[in-house]
Amino acid sequence: MTNTKKLYIKTYGCQMNVYDSERMAEALEVGGYEQTQDMDEADMILLNTCHIREKAAEKVYSDLGRLKPLHDAKPDLKIGVAGCVAQAEGQEIMRRQPMVDLVVGPQTYHRLPEMMKEVNAGRQALDTDFPEEDKFNLLPKRELPARNPSAFLTVQEGCDKFCAFCVVPYTRGAEVSRPAARILKEAQALVDRGVREITLLGQNVNAYHGHKGGLAGLIWDLAEIEDLKRIRFTTSHPNDMDDALIDAHGTCEKLMPYLHLPVQSGSDRILKAMNRKHTADAYRALIARIREARPDLMFSGDFIVGFPGETDEDFEATLQLVRDVHYGQAYSFKYSARPGTPAAEKPDVPAEIAHERLQRLQALLTEQQYQTQSDMVGRTVNVLFEKQGRQEGQLIGKSDYLHAVHAVAPVDMIGTVQPVRITKSMTNSLTGQLISD
Ligand code: 5AD
Ligand code: SF4
Repeated sequence: MTNTKKLYIKTYGCQMNVYDSERMAEALEVGGYEQTQDMDEADMILLNTCHIREKAAEKVYSDLGRLKPLHDAKPDLKIGVAGCVAQAEGQEIMRRQPMVDLVVGPQTYHRLPEMMKEVNAGRQALDTDFPEEDKFNLLPKRELPARNPSAFLTVQEGCDKFCAFCVVPYTRGAEVSRPAARILKEAQALVDRGVREITLLGQNVNAYHGHKGGLAGLIWDLAEIEDLKRIRFTTSHPNDMDDALIDAHGTCEKLMPYLHLPVQSGSDRILKAMNRKHTADAYRALIARIREARPDLMFSGDFIVGFPGETDEDFEATLQLVRDVHYGQAYSFKYSARPGTPAAEKPDVPAEIAHERLQRLQALLTEQQYQTQSDMVGRTVNVLFEKQGRQEGQLIGKSDYLHAVHAVAPVDMIGTVQPVRITKSMTNSLTGQLISD
C-alpha cells in the first residue's frame, strides 16, 4: 500500500505559471503527492500566484481567507504559496495568514522536496532566493503519461527591460536563457509523450540567447524534430524581433503565423515614460516587415490604459495604432500602480477616465477580433485536435492562427493536424467541417 497524498494546485496569471505548476507537481510527486482536481480531497493546496496587477495579488489573500474554514476543519491540510506574490511578499504572507506552511518563489521550486520535509515536521518553510543553480536541471525529468498534444516549454526567464510599470524584473529577476541542448532534450521527451505543438515561453522570449542563432536558431533546431508539428513562442518585445526571427516567420513551416507582440501604448510620449525604448512608428514599421515575411500572420497585443500622465490625445494615439495594425486578438488592462516600480511614484489618471478608456479600447479590440474570426468563414485552416468537445462526436482543436475550432471528427484524430473548412464564427471560437479526401 502506498500512502499517496493529494495535491491541488491553483494557477493564476500567465502561461509561465502554467508551466511552473506542472513542474512543481512533478517535484512534489517525489514527496508522494499526486495531483487532484478536487480541492476538498486535497492534503496540500498550492497557490501559484501572479503579482502583475494589484487585483491579481490581492486575490491571493482573499483566496487564502476563503481556505481558512477548510483548514480549520482539516488541520493537517498543508497550504503553500508559490509564484510572484511569494517572491514579492515573502514572510508577509505568513504574517497575514499564519496557517500558510510554505512560501516558495519562482526560482527555487526545485527545492520543494527539501522544503516539504520541514513542512511535514510541522515547521514553516520559506525560500525566495535567486540561486546560482538552474532549477530546471534539478527538477525530475518529465516522463510517463501521454499528455495533451499542446505543451508549454520555458526557455527564458526574467527581464532586463524595466518597463516603468512592471514588477517582472523584480519578481522573476534578471534575464536568464536555458541552454539550447537541454531545451531540445526536453522537447524531444515531450514529443515522445505525444506532444505535437510546443509554445516556447519566456517573459522576454525573443531575447533568448541560449543558442548562437538566438531564438530563431532554437526554432530551426526544434523544427528538425519530426513529430513536432507546430512551434509558437510568447511573449516578445518589439525591440528583440531580429532579422533571423522575422525571416523564420516567412520560411519555417512549423512556426505558426501568430505573434503576440505587446506595444502597451500608441503614444510616443507615453511609450517614453513607460521606458519602452521605441516609438509607435517603429512598431508600425516592424509590423509591416513581419507582414511582408508572412502576409497572413495574425497579431496579438497587450495594452495599458490610464498610465500616469496619459491624456485624451495619448489615448487617441493608442486607438489609432490599434486601427492601423488590426489585431486578431488582444489583452487590455487598466494601469495598476505596483509598489517599487518607477511609475508607482506618479499620480494616477482618475479612475473613471481610465475606466472609460478601457471600455472604448476593448470595444475596438473586440470588433477587430470578431472581424478576424468572421473572415475565417469559408476558409480551410489546419487544426491540431486536442480533446473531445462537449457535443457528441465533436473534437476541439486550435487553428494555425490559434483560434479554437470545433468540428465533428473521430476521436483518434486527437493529436493530429487536419484541414477543416470553417463554417461559422462564434463569440470565442469557430466551427468547421473536416475536409476528408
Ligand atoms: N498595470 C497594468 N497592466 C500591467 N501589465 C504589466 N504591468 C502592469 C501594470 N502595472 C500588463 C502589460 C503586460 C501584461 C503581461 O500585463 O500589458 O504586457
Ligand atoms: Fe515587464 Fe515585459 Fe516590460 Fe519586461 S518587457 S519589464 S516583462 S512589460
